[in-house]
Amino acid sequence: MRWVRELHGRTVITMAGIAAVLGLVVAVLIIGVGLFNVSARQGHWPGVTWAMHTTFESSVGFRAPPDSAVPDNLDTPDMVALGAGHYKSACMDCHGAPGVPRSATVQQMLPEPPSLALVADHWSAPEMHWIIHNGIKMSGMPAWPAERKDDVWPLVAFLRAQKGMTPETWQAMTDDAEGGCAVCHGPDGVSQNAQVPRLDILSETYIAQSLAAYRDGTRDSGIMYEVMSQLPKASVERLARSFADVSPEGTAMAPAELAAEGRALAFAEGGSQSVPACRACHGPWSAPINPAFPSLAGQHAPYLAQQLTLWREGNRGGGRAAELMFKASKDLTDEEIAALAAYYSGLKPAKLDDTAE
Ligand code: HEC
Ligand code: HEC
Ligand code: HEC
Repeated sequence: MRWVRELHGRTVITMAGIAAVLGLVVAVLIIGVGLFNVSARQGHWPGVTWAMHTTFESSVGFRAPPDSAVPDNLDTPDMVALGAGHYKSACMDCHGAPGVPRSATVQQMLPEPPSLALVADHWSAPEMHWIIHNGIKMSGMPAWPAERKDDVWPLVAFLRAQKGMTPETWQAMTDDAEGGCAVCHGPDGVSQNAQVPRLDILSETYIAQSLAAYRDGTRDSGIMYEVMSQLPKASVERLARSFADVSPEGTAMAPAELAAEGRALAFAEGGSQSVPACRACHGPWSAPINPAFPSLAGQHAPYLAQQLTLWREGNRGGGRAAELMFKASKDLTDEEIAALAAYYSGLKPAKLDDTAE
């Protein structure tokens, strides 16, 4: 373009100056004076919706984790049920649920939160995971209220299972007639869901300190943080006591080979001299143990393994004594974690001071 080359240096500067002033005037009119209409009634200018949505789709596709990140147990009924429990309190108001329509007001949001009944046809499991963990800027879709990523998978499991789910199934899965905690932890805290810890084996001190840790974020869990954000502080003591008052029932499992390996580990001193045997703090032990320590006897194996893995990776907080567990778990291999989880989950469900071999 010859005319560009023939432009005088000074002319170029003048033109750039004029463009800058014009830009500034437009900015003042939009930002300062308010000429741009932010009303959600108006819809976007032509092309803007397309540009925003395409940017969203490309961004998710570009950033989603690899398929190898998807856990093997994704589509199990326990994962789906836990996801449904959280979905009910955190997502349903915007996205609806089987038999539960979105409210008239929510439908006026721009963009409108879509029904997610068929969402799994459009997005892969890793893509849904990314969307739920990160949220979507400038759309009203919130980010996950925790750093850790593993506890997002139950939501993905639920979204995959939601396709074709009847309202009756949804109702049965999220029935809270027994109180809000029972949706996930079961009546009296005797959780039948292997992804959710049973509370009947725990002490009042440990339950209360765990709830406080979830509330102030020292224990990172998007699911329990959501619960605590809606639970009045005054209810914590009563709830902790009510679960601690339940006497655990159940019998020991027949010992398997893996559990025998776990027992050997639980009874041995840790590799480094400063780490005592697991049983010194978690039983079975003949003398009373500090009530700030949790009982593991009869706790679900997948939950135990998940918590030990979180600790090893430095992601599991807790009460003031949680520091002790960093030392105890930092050198554990995956096999040792599986063996320890098998051993403790197979013990007769019991409070800490009643644990038996
Ligand atoms: C305050 C309302 C709100 C809440 C609460 C909310 N979302 Fe959303 N969500 C949105 C909006 C709005 C969009 C649409 C974003 C867009 O298209 O740009 C969206 C989009 C999505 C999408 C992508 C859907 C698609 O078809 O592209 C998924 C998946 C999703 N949300 C899952 C969830 C889950 C799971 C939860 C609960 C943990 C949740 N959302 C909570 C408002 C919400
Ligand atoms: C949406 C499902 C859900 C609901 C509802 C729920 N919980 Fe939880 N709860 C979980 C999950 C999942 C965990 C494990 C979180 C983690 O990884 O730290 C958990 C952990 C806990 C723990 C820690 C147990 C331990 O062994 O360390 C306590 C205590 C607890 N919940 C109490 C409650 C109470 C009390 C309520 C009702 C006010 C409640 N939960 C409601 C799913 C739920
Ligand atoms: C010096 C005492 C101590 C030792 C030794 C110890 N722990 Fe712990 N453990 C704790 C404390 C304290 C907590 C609770 C931390 C919190 O959440 O505040 C805990 C929590 C746990 C939890 C989480 C339970 C739940 O309900 O969330 C698991 C699982 C666990 N320990 C397994 C083990 C295993 C396996 C070993 C042996 C390799 C071990 N611990 C050794 C003190 C100890």
